[in-house]
Amino acid sequence: MEKKIAVLPGDGIGPEVVQSALKVLDQIADIFGHRFTYETGLIGGCAIDETGEPLPAETIELCKKSDAILLGAVGGPKWDTLPGDKRPEKGLLGLRKSLQLFANLRPVTAFSSLAEASTLKKEVIEGVDLMIVRELTGGIYFGEPRKRKEINGEETAIDTLVYSKSEIERIIRKGFELAELRSKKVTSVDKANVLESSRLWREVANEVAKDFPNIELEHMLVDNAAMQLIRSPKSFDVVVTENMFGDILSDEASMLTGSLGMLPSASLSADGPGLYEPIHGTAPDIAGKGLANPLATIASLSMMLKYEFGLEKEADAIQEAIDSVLLQGERTSDLAGGEKALSTDEMTEKVIVQLKEKAYV
Ligand code: NAD
Ligand code: IPM
Ligand code: MN
Repeated sequence: MEKKIAVLPGDGIGPEVVQSALKVLDQIADIFGHRFTYETGLIGGCAIDETGEPLPAETIELCKKSDAILLGAVGGPKWDTLPGDKRPEKGLLGLRKSLQLFANLRPVTAFSSLAEASTLKKEVIEGVDLMIVRELTGGIYFGEPRKRKEINGEETAIDTLVYSKSEIERIIRKGFELAELRSKKVTSVDKANVLESSRLWREVANEVAKDFPNIELEHMLVDNAAMQLIRSPKSFDVVVTENMFGDILSDEASMLTGSLGMLPSASLSADGPGLYEPIHGTAPDIAGKGLANPLATIASLSMMLKYEFGLEKEADAIQEAIDSVLLQGERTSDLAGGEKALSTDEMTEKVIVQLKEKAYV
């Protein structure tokens, strides 16, 4: 198979983890006889520094003509005082919007070998396997108006939470479709006791559920969901929720695996290339030190191979390699690696060695 991948390293640890992932992808290409070509684009802070814009038009063009997109992360203290529209994060939001990447899949799988890396009890997290399906192009992230305004003689800030029925329907449907392939349970998370948009969300979820009679639908308020995720994470299968709730719940859920550095994601549209990125950010506290855990980005590649290219065997090979490396006790410092913690490059090398050792045909 021959595929063209747009590579957007971004800022902070973004370039470090992307470089690792590409080494792994090269290995996959070698073993399975594929050809992946890479073209790099600017996004975020590095794009601002070079072009004055967080999302140059060339980057959007590059993404549109590619078969898939691999992204590191954007943002950092250097650009934190820029106005909202000029910030690095605006680049990522703009890319998600312009490619209509409305469905953000964030799988949370607890590795038993990492039970001791989590701050939670082993018996609570062992066997956790859930999928957060986050709406990614609507809600309070994009609603208008958003501005500063003087109201009653006082500086006031306005953000707007908007959802149309069709926006809700397509993400809920995605959640149900994914649940068909999993444990057949959907938890729709909202704040229907307070928000009108959540009441519409709940109505639409009930409507869509009629098309999936074999799937159990449960509604849960987001504050309760935040608690239940920690109390009994194994009771969840697919969690479908709006943009900001999904952002927050997925960082929380990452600790079921032991580290934010473990969680991959896929952002999909109805057609066109998907975007694959770790859920974590640029980690300014460890950037440039070679300490970042590359596994979330490597696992995002596995999602790319599976969801974008239908290469299940190759996707599984990456997952199995990650599994084996963790079973052997290899750890980066975020995974309670202690004195013997591996660097980003060392961890990447361990994954590659695992891939080479298995005789894939
Ligand atoms: P963060 O995710 O960058 O970091 C939170 C904590 O987790 C830090 O202690 C960090 O060291 C650690 N961490 C994150 N990824 C890690 C990895 N792979 N290996 C080891 N440790 C890891 O969140 P933050 O500090 O709140 O945000 C920093 C910047 O990143 C901000 O500018 C924010 O806007 C941006 N951000 C970008 C994205 C993205 O591009 N998708 C996502 C989240 C945050
Ligand atoms: C994420 C990030 C982004 C978000 C930011 C950087 C815009 O936190 O991908 O989870 O909030 O969606
Ligand atoms: Mn986030």
